Amino acid sequence: MSIHISAKKGDISKVVLQPGDPLRAKYIAENFLENPRLVSQTRGIFYYTGLYKGKEISVGASGMGFPSIGIYSFELYTEYEVDTIIRIGTCGAYTTDLKVFDLINIDNAASESTYAKYAWEMEEELMPHQGNIFDIINETAEELSLNAKSCNIHSSDIFYRKNPEIPEIATKYNCPAVEMEAFALFANARYLGKNAATILTVSDVIPTGENISADQRQTALKPMIELALEAAWK
Ligand code: HPA
Repeated sequence: MSIHISAKKGDISKVVLQPGDPLRAKYIAENFLENPRLVSQTRGIFYYTGLYKGKEISVGASGMGFPSIGIYSFELYTEYEVDTIIRIGTCGAYTTDLKVFDLINIDNAASESTYAKYAWEMEEELMPHQGNIFDIINETAEELSLNAKSCNIHSSDIFYRKNPEIPEIATKYNCPAVEMEAFALFANARYLGKNAATILTVSDVIPTGENISADQRQTALKPMIELALEAAWK
């Protein structure tokens, strides 16, 4: 047990898939894993462990934002000997060059956040993916004939804001989309010498207001889930 995860040591696999939403973790476990076991439900943040093509894989939520993923990823890496976390989430596109349902594999996360500075004394605004799981995801996408573009992401603390302009940091680091977790995940993995990747599906295009409806979400996220599972299986 750790402070925020009640699974027993050994009940979480070396590779963990981490969606933001606990119910998405439940959906993935129940629909993609064999014999899924619920190993933690502290605070309603579900963690399941099951088999994918014979390999043990855990899937559990990060919650939303840097504080939440910062806590869960740190405890997974340090208390459960997890080697690799693959975040699977959604993002909002700043540009119409990206379309809803597009899949992206994150190279670097750019953020105005002070998370990495105050947690680990890392001053950089740009935090790279960690280890070789990013490359494995790209190779796997090619094998599955999935078009997963590699790009940078703006990792923001802010979902609602007054000014509709694209934030300066997103322009500075060529980030076509925004989400709220990758920067803290990559910072934790970097500090601890672990592996971390982030795969995102574009759920909304901010300039046009186009978005994936609640009904479409389950099917829309299937390619991302399969890509993450296949990469985790390797
Ligand atoms: N902002 C931040 N995170 C997001 C968004 C957004 O517009 N869409 C999906 N995740």
